[in-house]
Amino acid sequence: MGKYIIAGNWKMNKLPSETYDFVKEVVEATKGATCEVVCCTPYVCLAPAIEAAKGTHVKIGAENLHYEDKGAFTGEISADMLVDMGVQYVIMGHSERREYNNETDETVNLKAKKAFEKGLIPIVCCGESLEQREAGITMDWIAIQIKKAFAGISADDAKKVVIAYEPIWAIGTGKTATDEQAEEVCGAIRKLLADLYDDATAKTITIQYGGSMNAKNAAGLLSKPNIDGGLIGGASLKAPDFAVITGAAK
Ligand code: 13P
Repeated sequence: MGKYIIAGNWKMNKLPSETYDFVKEVVEATKGATCEVVCCTPYVCLAPAIEAAKGTHVKIGAENLHYEDKGAFTGEISADMLVDMGVQYVIMGHSERREYNNETDETVNLKAKKAFEKGLIPIVCCGESLEQREAGITMDWIAIQIKKAFAGISADDAKKVVIAYEPIWAIGTGKTATDEQAEEVCGAIRKLLADLYDDATAKTITIQYGGSMNAKNAAGLLSKPNIDGGLIGGASLKAPDFAVITGAAK
């Protein structure tokens, strides 16, 4: 449906001093990939990552941004700063930031708008907890997250968004959603986007699955019609594993 995008989310892993060589390794390992290949790195790793990816097929993303342009926000990073460095993607609304850093649907919406204004591509994360899944309210919950994230965003901008469906119970647990579970939710997200916008817009949007996606299970998940890529945590920290996943996205 949407363009295939495989993005690594390094989270709080790797040192600036090892980033250049590692990204070079990713560039080499993913050479034959036909999908978009992205490494989202900690802020302090962005400079060497961008240097290593320069002139190659690999794009670099950040793991967060602030929604204000500038000012008294100690410790924060603005969209202009990221763009100035050469960053192209930015993750927002990750469940870890929702849990530990007060990220809300409202701040995700503000961040998405700021990303568009500045020319960054937002990777908007959504996903249910195990408790919500067991209560049968997965899609109700995700519909709220998506509707709030996209509030006031035009169809033209919406087409550029990457959505990452990441069931919280599958993140870092080794417990992947089955191909069918992931497809069911990604398909429902696409239908919701068609309702919010139109069919053409919904078909253009890349919907990724994330949550213990790895070299072994990627091909099955990526074979599903509504799964257009992956947001990869642990397996993005090993270039050969990451390359198997990018190779499966075709
Ligand atoms: P894992 O692939 O380590 O489960 O992490 C998924 C994730 O949270 C990507 O954003």
